[in-house]
Amino acid sequence: MTYKASFRVWRGDAGGGELHDFTVEVNDGEVVLDVLHRIQATQASDLAVRWNCKAGKCGSCSAEVNGRPRLLCMTRMSTFAENEVVTVTPMRTFPVIRDLVTDVSFNYAKAREIPAFAPPPDLAPGEYRMQQVDVERSQEFRKCIECFLCQNVCHVIRDHEDNKQHYAGPRYLMRIAELEMHPLDVADRREAAQAEHGLGYCNITKCCTEVCPEGIHITDNALIPMKERVADKRYDPLVWLGTNLFRR
Ligand code: SF4
Ligand code: F3S
Ligand code: FES
Repeated sequence: MTYKASFRVWRGDAGGGELHDFTVEVNDGEVVLDVLHRIQATQASDLAVRWNCKAGKCGSCSAEVNGRPRLLCMTRMSTFAENEVVTVTPMRTFPVIRDLVTDVSFNYAKAREIPAFAPPPDLAPGEYRMQQVDVERSQEFRKCIECFLCQNVCHVIRDHEDNKQHYAGPRYLMRIAELEMHPLDVADRREAAQAEHGLGYCNITKCCTEVCPEGIHITDNALIPMKERVADKRYDPLVWLGTNLFRR
């Protein structure tokens, strides 16, 4: 079945922009990205939209559809009523390059700030042994496709540009938690998580978890356990004695 849909697509650049209206054909089984491609093919050949796999795996096509952060290639048109206006805007947390394409380099900078996996120096690759439960924990976090929808939706940086400097965001706090809980990682990442990567800014609103297209339990399985580890270190009476009584 085919029908005509009303689309409103944000067009502009770093200097500003506005919503443009399109009436466009939609066919059975199509996703929002298909319709944007039809707009490109028939009405606005210079419309900028980033995509790659069209299978929900590359994380390129992140944007906001009717105000919700989504992958454009995984948002079925059947989600919307035929007479509903579908509004597509770029991710709000990152600077616009053009139209629906944003500059996500903030995320790469945050990734580089996290020290790499640090296995015990006397263990060679191939000698690593882990419990299945530890393997599974890492595997959940490693489903991440780096779409940055969680980073986009977290209010700590979505609403406060000045927090960006001090806050890694859920995707990278999850990476720190993954390494901290890794049985073969010998680095103590708790102090840096709090002091350098802004773990304390997260007040567990769980919006990151809600929008994750991979269904990763970012808050429950990474951020909360990481907060508990930081609290254990700070309030552990033996650690407290060690750092306060014997410090001279
Ligand atoms: Fe995207 Fe989920 Fe990875 Fe965040 S954790 S970047 S929402 S896949
Ligand atoms: Fe932000 Fe997720 Fe925490 S949305 S406040 S990182 S639980
Ligand atoms: Fe790859 Fe959408 S195009 S996730």
